[in-house]
Amino acid sequence: MKNLIMCAALTLTAAPALGDTATSLTVGEGFTNPIGFHEASPVFSWKLPKGVKSQTAYHLETTSGTKAWDSGWVNSDQSTFVPYGGEPFSSRQQVDWHVNFRDENGKECGWSESAHFELGLLSANDWTAQWIKPLGESDPKVEAVAWLRRSFSATKQIASARVYVTARGLFELQLNGARVGNDHFANGWTSYHKRIDTLTYDVTRQIRSGENSLEVMLGDGWYAGRLIWEKNNKAVYGKDPELLLQLEITYADGSHDTIVSDGQWEGTFNGPVISSSNYDGESYDARKEVTDWKPVTANPDLGPEQLAPKPLPPVREVETLGVQNITQPQPGHFVFDLGQNMVGWAKLKMPVEKDQTITIHFAEMLKDDGTLYNDNYRSAKSTDTYTAAETETIEWEPHFTFHGFRYVELTGLPQDATPQKDWVTGVVLHSDLRQTGTFTSSHAKLNQLQSNITWGQRGNFVDIPTDCPQRDERLGWTGDAEVFCPTAMFNYDCLAFWKSWLGSMRDDQYPDGRIPHVIPDVLPKWKGDSPGWMDAATIIPWGVYVRTGDTSVLADNYSMMEKLVGWYRSQAVNGLLPKIQGFGDWLQPYAKSQKGDTPFPLIGAAFYAHSAQILADSARILKRDDDARRYADEAAMVKQAFLAKYFDANGKIQNAPETQTAYVLAIAFDLLPEDLKANAGANLVRLVGEADGHLRTGFLGTPYIVSVLDETGHGDLAYDLLFQETYPSWFYSINQGATTLWERWNSYSHDKGFGDVSMNSFNHYAYGAVGQWMYERVAGLAPDPANPGYKHFFIRPLVGAQLDSASAKLETLYGTASSAWTKQNGKVVMDIVVPPNTTATVEFPDNRPPQTVAAGEYSFESGLK
Ligand code: BGC
Repeated sequence: MKNLIMCAALTLTAAPALGDTATSLTVGEGFTNPIGFHEASPVFSWKLPKGVKSQTAYHLETTSGTKAWDSGWVNSDQSTFVPYGGEPFSSRQQVDWHVNFRDENGKECGWSESAHFELGLLSANDWTAQWIKPLGESDPKVEAVAWLRRSFSATKQIASARVYVTARGLFELQLNGARVGNDHFANGWTSYHKRIDTLTYDVTRQIRSGENSLEVMLGDGWYAGRLIWEKNNKAVYGKDPELLLQLEITYADGSHDTIVSDGQWEGTFNGPVISSSNYDGESYDARKEVTDWKPVTANPDLGPEQLAPKPLPPVREVETLGVQNITQPQPGHFVFDLGQNMVGWAKLKMPVEKDQTITIHFAEMLKDDGTLYNDNYRSAKSTDTYTAAETETIEWEPHFTFHGFRYVELTGLPQDATPQKDWVTGVVLHSDLRQTGTFTSSHAKLNQLQSNITWGQRGNFVDIPTDCPQRDERLGWTGDAEVFCPTAMFNYDCLAFWKSWLGSMRDDQYPDGRIPHVIPDVLPKWKGDSPGWMDAATIIPWGVYVRTGDTSVLADNYSMMEKLVGWYRSQAVNGLLPKIQGFGDWLQPYAKSQKGDTPFPLIGAAFYAHSAQILADSARILKRDDDARRYADEAAMVKQAFLAKYFDANGKIQNAPETQTAYVLAIAFDLLPEDLKANAGANLVRLVGEADGHLRTGFLGTPYIVSVLDETGHGDLAYDLLFQETYPSWFYSINQGATTLWERWNSYSHDKGFGDVSMNSFNHYAYGAVGQWMYERVAGLAPDPANPGYKHFFIRPLVGAQLDSASAKLETLYGTASSAWTKQNGKVVMDIVVPPNTTATVEFPDNRPPQTVAAGEYSFESGLK
């Protein structure tokens, strides 16, 4: 009724009343009014106002100067990823757009407010700039910073100005002494030899008529800095960083000026930043001026790399953490506790004495004596230093480094110093993605687990998904990302983030179809061949598609998936993979090796079948019917071979050791016929019982074990595992003080101390993959793969004995969806929200018939089972 009234009112008014028309207009992967946008033929999304049930038609218009495109009325309920149908847009083009829609009663609801976007430079032809760097070479013993500058005069009144800029390496740009933008580690990390992302900044207000100066700092970053644990492994992509910059000014009289990076610039490696390194930290000597300016080396050859606007939000400062506590475990060593394992850096605001060097060490954990435990950083020095020019109060933060830490230690202070909490602030940096999901419950430890999962995601979403943020690794390990992807998609809007990283995966796929272990690939010596890691190429596109409904993620990656499945095929003997190797069920507790007890060939065949099935499903969605049939046959053949080899007629593992993970993968990937599935589930229950109600799964089995138990009718045991307090379990690490997920459940324990230092990260998100089950089953908010992107979804809470209530809220592309339940007087009260233009099917804890509901807010009462 509500929406009827709203739309009726609109037909009487010419101008749209706010709140009645479509809202939240976004372009591409969810960008709001972007500049430097990356797609010439974009897609459009909008939300319908609250009260509307559904859309029956839309009408979309774009205008750009004198050019317009009008979709006309299209009878469709599609309000997400609606394709643009006009002439492709070109570089720099500014576009306005708005949308009108008809609701479920056919009532026209009026034009939305206008949204707009502006294209970046789409091709290399748009660039007249040259790659520049200071003359000569930097000191190879450090990760030197380069400074580049030029001044110029803007002769007339300025109408608008844009800087298009990128680096081989990392850049920080200043115009007239003020920072341009607030991005860090720009331009990010891609497979640099193939693709370099460019950024666009609106500097209209920063530029002035008359004299102006541009100054740029370049850091080695991932391009030229240290990477991986091997000695002297530096300059993987290039020796020194380089800059490409184009400033385009439009004057009020319509004329233009362009200032580009070229031979007119000056450069130097001599300045206050002595070294700035991702792994090793930054040394800053405030006594040094930037000196020795010389002409630069300029190269007009733009190189073979694709230059394209950055398709994901850059890393930014998203939050700061204050110090909770200061200790002095050794004379002169002051340890500041931020209370949370985080990623970023420490900002100093403190008094210093002339010529004094403050040394800043970081650690995720403290030893028993209160001193820093940072042996687990391995060769990463992760140390910043600041040398003071004057006796004064400084404010300082580094430039091209980041640390994974909870504790900050300052040394080098005067003897009589009394450190104050506000001397140190934790600056949290990560890809600036929009937080979309929240999960909460009546159980403090479960809430702590959700917090740990979220912090793990923040710390490891630094332009690419990394395994860990602190040691000499911080790499885009495919397996870790693959298992965490669904959970990540609940917590943050990471569509653009995944699509960008998948682009690098396509760039780095080996010609034979294998996927490197890490993306971007900086481990060329280890040709990737690990099932469960390589399958990031199929599992991530599918996981992203299911949660967004964006079919382009399947289309873009389709041939990568085909090549991977082709590689499996080339290794297979009658559908099985007898020779396959890999990382196995990595870090399974109590296993004979760190690769776990589940045989490689079993894992290999399971992932081959799963990837082939995803490929078949993707072909079906993309309407490649012949492919869909062919790959479905292949998947069925591999499943059959898997079944015949590894399962007896009673659903028990044969020809391989019985492991939890073997059962988990067989059930999770749907490799068993229904009747055997139940038996396999019962066998898994037996194995969990034999482990005294504990996990015996590693990186591959752990993400699925609770959902597999649940799916086979053992939801109570799934809950018991999730709530298990003793090793190995999620709560065990929390009982040892975890504020993030750890690489091993016992990376630290109160009774045994620290685990094996060679691999002892306190910020590894892989085991956080259980977050998916918490959202989908504990709270009960689950996507429907048949109607992706929450066009239709399920409310299906599994009410656990350990909880009195649970709830999840998710900002879907259609609006807020939520599912909350509370036990009340022996019943369960379910409060749910279904966003406009979607439907949900509610499955009740007392197993009464499900009910499908349209957009709206509902409260149901159900009995317990
Ligand atoms: C990383 C992982 C990764 C693994 C592969 C480790 O060093 O930290 O998380 O998946 O190697 O075996």
